[in-house]
Amino acid sequence: MALAALTGCNGGSSALDPGGVEAATIARLFWLMAIGAGAVWVVVVSIAIHAGRRRDNPPDRRVARWLIVVGGVVVPTVVLGALLMHGLVLMPQLREPAPHDGLRIAVSGEQWWWRVTYRPDDAVPVVLANEIRLPVGRRVEFILTSPDVIHSFWIPSLGGKLDMIPARTTTLVLEPTRTGTFQGACAEYCGTSHAFMRLAVVVMEPEPFARWLEHQAASATAPLDAIARRGEHAFRRNGCGACHTVRGTAAAGVVGPDLTHVGSRLELAAGTLPNDPAGFQRWIADTHTVKPDATMPQFGVLPEAEQRAIASYLEGLQ
Ligand code: CUA
Repeated sequence: MALAALTGCNGGSSALDPGGVEAATIARLFWLMAIGAGAVWVVVVSIAIHAGRRRDNPPDRRVARWLIVVGGVVVPTVVLGALLMHGLVLMPQLREPAPHDGLRIAVSGEQWWWRVTYRPDDAVPVVLANEIRLPVGRRVEFILTSPDVIHSFWIPSLGGKLDMIPARTTTLVLEPTRTGTFQGACAEYCGTSHAFMRLAVVVMEPEPFARWLEHQAASATAPLDAIARRGEHAFRRNGCGACHTVRGTAAAGVVGPDLTHVGSRLELAAGTLPNDPAGFQRWIADTHTVKPDATMPQFGVLPEAEQRAIASYLEGLQ
């Protein structure tokens, strides 16, 4: 309990509760470092306490010198040196490239959301936003970049973080070892709404993962009921398609998140709102309160019925 409080554990987002090969390596390294630092601390503090107690009756000079040299120099040097060597050996292992047939996912950090592209080399890649699903037990290569400022891609339970740098590509390899839902976040200050740039990561069995990806690759389904159909009209009339894509419709904008299957995602607006009609409506009407300085214009001037209709249309994009 105390440890959980100390390390900020909260289920899906602790580096000390690993759900992947790389995260387990990092967690092991953390505990080794903590034990090494603890050992040095105990030795140095013991000597200091001993010296304080013996103030009126100092030991002979030889013993004092021995204590200072061994406890103050030799022990810290050996322990810290060993930790440094261990860290230097681990570093290249964590940067090992994925096998050639591995799954590749391109992720672009943008102010303040994540553009996620599966099958990035295909003629028609599968684009979604703010959610990554992975098959358990497979090494995944993430190709990271950014069109605006430096962001940092971090899924603490799966591995270390890596910067996403404009005009450059960095790659990160992760291998999840258990299924579950994990949280990711931007780990580099990137502007006003940096704190509202979260990512949902779902690790699944290979079969459901394959089905999920096929579903994401398909075009959007047509709106089911009358309100949602009205919402689709309003979506078109208000020019939402200039920035957003809904595959299978005329909306083909690439400025903002792809909304083809937005209703199927776990959360809205990069983890800031629940994915339900009220969440959509809040985002449409109150964008800049939810996410200050977001690029999307706020549509609070629309009549509430119209906001609700658009929300219903988007929620229906399963
Ligand atoms: Cu993106 Cu901080």
